[in-house]
Amino acid sequence: MESAIPRYLASARTQPAKLKPSWQPPYPSYVARFQPQVSRVAMAYFGAQYPGEGRPPAPVRAALADLAATCALPDGPRHTDRASYIDENGYTTVVTIAYWDDTTHYDNWFTNAREMWLGDQRATSDAGFFIEAVRPSATRFETLFSNDRREGIAVLADGLSGEVREHGYWGGSRDRLPQAQTDPLAPGEPPALTTDGVRHRVRAQHNLCLIRSGQDWTDTDGDERNRYLDDVEPVLHAGMEFLRDEGRAIGCYNNRYMRVLGDDGKPLDKSFGMSWWRSMTALDDWARDHPTHKNIFGEATRYLSALGPAARLRLYHEVTVAAAEEQHFEYLGCHPGTGLLKVAMPENS
Ligand code: HEM
Repeated sequence: MESAIPRYLASARTQPAKLKPSWQPPYPSYVARFQPQVSRVAMAYFGAQYPGEGRPPAPVRAALADLAATCALPDGPRHTDRASYIDENGYTTVVTIAYWDDTTHYDNWFTNAREMWLGDQRATSDAGFFIEAVRPSATRFETLFSNDRREGIAVLADGLSGEVREHGYWGGSRDRLPQAQTDPLAPGEPPALTTDGVRHRVRAQHNLCLIRSGQDWTDTDGDERNRYLDDVEPVLHAGMEFLRDEGRAIGCYNNRYMRVLGDDGKPLDKSFGMSWWRSMTALDDWARDHPTHKNIFGEATRYLSALGPAARLRLYHEVTVAAAEEQHFEYLGCHPGTGLLKVAMPENS
């Protein structure tokens, strides 16, 4: 069994781990392994929103085409995913997530891409656009996979580890995060609005936490598929709605329960919860204490322990705790409940 933290990122702990020396995880899990020279990655969420559930209006279709072309330019992302959901205000939101494992490329690419996505030409009453981006150092994100199908930032990794020790118990996520060896990751001042005409910038919050926690039921069938769709998914859905509607009181600034889209724009059998949190502690507390996640954690643990590698439901997550200077939040023409505007707009305080 391996440590989730690679040797080159290991340091003498000043923050105690939750891992017990005798711990044997009840089922196998793996983490993404990057080359040691990957000192920083970038994860940029390019969002477009429009009212209703229909086909995207022309400005959104044009913006998505421009984004695809911009992503294909030199220095563009090495991996992208597209996903959508309908938010609590009835707006369809289409998000393209772009990933880099070399932030020199990202930094070269970003200025023009930002202008392409949020420039004056995008201002329209038919749609809103946003960028929510983090560029964490390698010590500030961690991943976990119940299987060998890589998703998200891990697509850019060298590969997956062997079985890791630090999972299957509360606090595993923090034990896998290199920065948490020596840093309690206390949250800074809450996000605040800085305005630039029709555009809203949100000042970042030190140690803001991001999770993308994914489910892939593509390969399931029969009982396993029914068990996921009939028993697990409704509980997950309830948990995601709780975070969306009532999360703020427990430190969840915004939650999106998203469906991954294929190249043809049709939904795949893949979803993920994506949320911004005041702190990693708030996220961990929800995961440990809230009945929805407690239930799915218990159900998934039993299920993965019983099926082991034969389980065809695939679970993964990536958790980032970003320093203030590693964040960029910007919104053009979006409604005030969008992303971090939900906490930063004075009318929402
Ligand atoms: C069907 C959906 C889900 C299932 C079956 C599930 C199951 C699990 C399991 C089994 C673990 C323990 C992993 C390990 O350490 O081996 C876990 C951890 C965790 N999950 Fe979920 N989960 C789901 C969705 C979510 C979502 C959507 C979120 C948040 C948006 C989330 C947040 C977390 C967090 C933060 C942890 C780490 C807790 C810690 O280390 O203390 N999960 N989940």
